[in-house]
Amino acid sequence: MTFANQGWTRALLGALGFLSATNVLGQDTCNGRSEYCTRSYSNITFVGSHDSAFVGDLPTQNQNLNVTAQLDLGIRYLQAQTHKSIGDDSVLELCHTSCLLEDAGPLSDFLGTVKSWLDGNPDEVVTLLLTNGDSVDISVFGDTFSGVDGLVNYIYVPSSQPLAIGDWPTLGDLISAGTRLIVFLDYGANTDTVNYINDEFSYYFETPYDVTDSSFSNCSIDRPPGASAEGRMYIVNHFLDVDILGVDVPDRDAAGTTNAATGDGSIGAQADECEALYKVNPNVLLLDFVDQGDPLGAQTSLNGLS
Ligand SMILES: *[C@@H]1O[C@H](CO)[C@@H](O)[C@H](O)[C@H]1NC(C)=O
Ligand SMILES: *[C@@H]1O[C@H](CO)[C@@H](O)[C@H](O)[C@H]1NC(C)=O
Ligand SMILES: *[C@@H]1O[C@H](CO)[C@@H](O)[C@H](O)[C@H]1NC(C)=O
Repeated sequence: MTFANQGWTRALLGALGFLSATNVLGQDTCNGRSEYCTRSYSNITFVGSHDSAFVGDLPTQNQNLNVTAQLDLGIRYLQAQTHKSIGDDSVLELCHTSCLLEDAGPLSDFLGTVKSWLDGNPDEVVTLLLTNGDSVDISVFGDTFSGVDGLVNYIYVPSSQPLAIGDWPTLGDLISAGTRLIVFLDYGANTDTVNYINDEFSYYFETPYDVTDSSFSNCSIDRPPGASAEGRMYIVNHFLDVDILGVDVPDRDAAGTTNAATGDGSIGAQADECEALYKVNPNVLLLDFVDQGDPLGAQTSLNGLS
């Protein structure tokens, strides 16, 4: 059986529910490692790309690599800001605070890029965390997703909302079922209307963002305000800003140190601080400039692998 056929067979059998418990067809690797095949999604640490769509060397841009190159590098968690397009409220654009400041194109193009990448990489699970800066109605997100041919079929739909932290499938289960894309939205999700876009803050809490202290020593719960850590996964905002004339911009020069695996202010150092507080490692560490430092080395070691 060819590789492509195996993927197709897995998707079919997965859809019929045959492969939920075991890997009958022998999933060799999941996100590059056999160990992740049997690990629950909620027990894996992912390094993620913050503002993944803002690519370039301007102060409003957070990444050097485009989204396909980030995925090719090994990043499996993409965060992106959405806003209403100027002049057309029914179109979602990837803009930085405002579409006048930075417009990285329509959300539909970004989703198409992710969909194509999933087509070509059958053993990979990817997560999208979108923000809804203009409080656009969830139906517009639904229309945008369903407008990308074949995309929605890839999206994992939890069996209940919110799914309990211990009930998340393993990466092997997700791959077997062919549901290899997980989607969260920060504000405005409504799973009664669009069942595959999960409410971020029912599942996660986040540490403070727009951090300008390079020691990254603050793991407090910033959002949702007053939330309990109990029962939630968590996202650590590990990207450093520098204040230029009162405006916070990504600290590009510090990225090598910020994104190091170990050392003062590194990914590993902040993960250790947060782990001491919450007794588990972060589920996600969002980073600017994912091509700098050693994000994937940090991810491997936070997952207890070498
Ligand atoms: C993304 O980056 C890669 C590597 O630099 C490049 O080969 C590719 O053409 C880029 N894709 C787009 C759509 O710009
Ligand atoms: C950590 O960040 C929060 C903002 O979310 C702030 O209220 C708190 O004072 C900070 N703690 C320290 C020790 O800086
Ligand atoms: C996964 O579980 C192990 C063992 O309990 C724990 O040490 C680790 O922190 C957990 N990681 C996450 C992201 O939950």
